Amino acid sequence: MTARRLEGGRLVLASHNAGKLREIAALLRPYGIETISAASLGLAEPEETGATFEENAELKALAAAAGAGLPALADDSGLVVPALGGAPGIYSARWAGAGKDFRIAMAKVEARLVGRSDRRAYFVAVLTLAWPDRHVETFRGEVHGRLVWPPRGEKGFGYDPIFLAEGESETFGEMDPGKKHRMSHRAVAFAKLVTTSLG
Ligand code: IMP
Repeated sequence: MTARRLEGGRLVLASHNAGKLREIAALLRPYGIETISAASLGLAEPEETGATFEENAELKALAAAAGAGLPALADDSGLVVPALGGAPGIYSARWAGAGKDFRIAMAKVEARLVGRSDRRAYFVAVLTLAWPDRHVETFRGEVHGRLVWPPRGEKGFGYDPIFLAEGESETFGEMDPGKKHRMSHRAVAFAKLVTTSLG
């Protein structure tokens, strides 16, 4: 089946995170896509009940497309640690608790890795474009590396201070944000979206 393309016009961004909204709006502007946030349309965020990044991105994009009657873009992302059976995975945000304290989430990952030699980890980002007729196009990006301890750097967010991408000497927390954004899991997923649905 050929992929459905996004033909200019307005696109609803399902994220309620201001930083992500700004970043995605800037990425789409050169393609003549005007973005509006789900929050500005009064759309509620659905509960993330999926078992995979793809299911969560799709349920968020479908809810926004249905609510707005317009195409919508949603994302879901997280850190996957194979030695922990894939945890924290889709629960990456929830591991930081109600206070969204990622020092706690990083310490939890480290505590569970004690005594294990396999410190591989990767970030995943899934982007889903959904249309009001329930058609979806889904794109996955990954960036692989390993975990370090103690955390290093103040520039990023989430698990950035303990993630060292393959071939790099700085953690994502130490790295210039422009460089991180060019190589990140979100950049990889976004490049696939552009090639398939916008290019
Ligand atoms: P989401 O907003 O439901 O996609 O939650 C993603 C969670 O995964 C975030 O709260 C972070 O904990 C983590 N995460 C995703 N991408 C990154 C990243 O680039 N750096 C650090 N942590 C990330």
